[in-house]
Amino acid sequence: MHLAAILETELPWPDEAAAQSSAEKLAAALLPSPNALIELHGPLGAGKTTFTRLLLRALGVQGRIKSPSYAVMESYELPSGGVASHFDFYRFGDPREWEDAGFRDVFAAPGLKVCEWPEKAAGQLPPPDLQLFIELLPDDSRRVRAVGVPRLVEALS
Ligand SMILES: Nc1ncnc2c1ncn2[C@@H]1O[C@H](COP(=O)(O)OP(=O)(O)OP(=O)(O)O)[C@@H](O)[C@H]1O
Ligand SMILES: [Mg+2]
Repeated sequence: MHLAAILETELPWPDEAAAQSSAEKLAAALLPSPNALIELHGPLGAGKTTFTRLLLRALGVQGRIKSPSYAVMESYELPSGGVASHFDFYRFGDPREWEDAGFRDVFAAPGLKVCEWPEKAAGQLPPPDLQLFIELLPDDSRRVRAVGVPRLVEALS
């Protein structure tokens, strides 16, 4: 995390439409050249993949958006130019895989990186620009705490 200035806000996500609204606001703040590391925290089924799909759609990605749970990374060309890479580190274990799979290069290059289960790649990941902590409530709604650089947190507020 960049130490300069960190903001925090709470977002109620009663349903997927609320998540879509957040995705659209975030996409607008990321464009025209998305270049950020976004960490998505939350338990199984919290809605991390769903939010990533909504964000990629809001950035103009068309066609199938697969969950990267098996491949660990799925990358997309953005119509605005540049690349978005979607990671799911749930099954990520061997740190050598970081080098072998070329992730070091991906994170060193500009572009959007969205990471599910970032805690499983702790120690490898560079500092995030935005963290979303998604809490799954008993009534199946979600509550999100957004922490990160002012430009992105303010866009979500
Ligand atoms: N914001 C939301 N509001 C209501 N339901 C949601 C929301 N996001 C996701 N869901 C529901 O929860 C299910 C699981 O979501 P999703 O696969 O995105 O979770 P995940 O956090 O990626 O889980 P995993 O840790 O297994 O990767 C979805 O199929 C969807 O029906
Ligand atoms: Mg997922």
